[in-house]
Amino acid sequence: MKESITSELQARIPGLVVLTDEESLSTYGTDWTKFHNPSPCAIAFPENESQVKQIVEFAKENKLGLVPSGGRTGLAAAATALNGELVVSFDKMNRMLEFNEADSTVTVEAGFNTLALQEFAKSKGLMFPVDFASKGSSQIGGNIATNAGGIKVVRYGLMREWVTGLKVVTGNGDVLSLNKGLMKNASGYDLRQLFIGSEGTLGFITEATVRLIRAKEARVVMLFGTDTLENVLAIMQAFRSKVEISAFEFLTDAALQYVMDAKQIQAPLRGRHPYYTILEFDGSYEEEINTAIDLYKDLFHQGLIADDATAMTEEDCKRLWQYREDISASISYKTPYKNDLSVRISRIPAFLKELETAILGAYPDFEVLWYGHIADGNVHVNVLKPDTLSLESFKEKCGKMDGTIYGIVEKFEGSVSAEHGVGLLKKKHLGKTRSKEEIEYMKAIKQVFDPEGIMNPGKVV
Ligand code: MLT
Ligand code: ZN
Repeated sequence: MKESITSELQARIPGLVVLTDEESLSTYGTDWTKFHNPSPCAIAFPENESQVKQIVEFAKENKLGLVPSGGRTGLAAAATALNGELVVSFDKMNRMLEFNEADSTVTVEAGFNTLALQEFAKSKGLMFPVDFASKGSSQIGGNIATNAGGIKVVRYGLMREWVTGLKVVTGNGDVLSLNKGLMKNASGYDLRQLFIGSEGTLGFITEATVRLIRAKEARVVMLFGTDTLENVLAIMQAFRSKVEISAFEFLTDAALQYVMDAKQIQAPLRGRHPYYTILEFDGSYEEEINTAIDLYKDLFHQGLIADDATAMTEEDCKRLWQYREDISASISYKTPYKNDLSVRISRIPAFLKELETAILGAYPDFEVLWYGHIADGNVHVNVLKPDTLSLESFKEKCGKMDGTIYGIVEKFEGSVSAEHGVGLLKKKHLGKTRSKEEIEYMKAIKQVFDPEGIMNPGKVV
């Protein structure tokens, strides 16, 4: 089968690189989830849109499932091939096609790396503000397909706000050029936005045009230690009301300890505290810095902040951020069972209170780490697998608690996936966030773009 697919594909698409060795199949057959055993038939590496289109046409004729693969940093098992699908990697479509200074946009192929885009923008005195820990590996096409979020959403929004143009090959084999870089376009349904967050279920994103903005001159990062989750919320409220924050995150001491162990680094503060917050704001204005410092002093005197570290140089800012950004990588060896939940910001206090009680009751035997983008209403609840428990039993035990956790999400009208996507992992819980009717409409949309059901089969809906 593997040999015949490879030779048929290569006969049809001369020059197409196709790999079938075991290492490539297991590497490209999955994402960071580590919860499944990949089993793709082959990995194809198209080099241009025409080859992508031909792959789709081939798959349609042969009723072959196609799984898109970007930087494989996903956490919802959306880029996993478990049933002999052909994985389509965008590693070879990683060129920058155009920098348009007048429009302040960049057009790149889907496999262009996120950090490389940020660095290119910086070299032009500009900024691409979508930012997250996996930027060194993730690709723009994958960020768009999952509508990536990350640490700056509170100020700059999700990936969808930065995409002004998309080129896609639909599951039907059509090439569409969507929105064409326009800032304003009121000409009917915005198909571009449909593809953003569709997790490869409607077609392949081959090219994107994204907006850049003027770079900020400097930033200030503050890390605080505090005693309770209530304090975290009070600190957040205080800063949100007086300072234009670009990030506000929280983490528990246990999460911090994992980073310190993994990176072999010292604690950021003198003592240990049950919770930490880390915030960032634009440090170009002295007035803003003074307001933040006064606020910090106030909160310290009220006993809300127990200790602090403030960074004003780029090097120090990066040093403080690693305590938050490196959590995910530091705990990955524990095969965490991830809950990526969100509610409206106003509901966060009540939601967290109920969730905290439920989690203590739901996972009494397990170590649970909390962290997340609390100012976006988004918390990551990570249940760590004990070394002695098999992956299967761990998944089964955690799965039994899903009803409780997702029941609370439903009660608070939140989302079962704030930013990681639905993929395979959250598919069965979609009904807690989306109504039956909505899901039927989603299925109908998929049918239009992917009539043969070849695009990322089994994912999302
Ligand atoms: C993060 O916020 O660190 C990422 O979403 C990854 C994760 O949740 O582990
Ligand atoms: Zn996150």
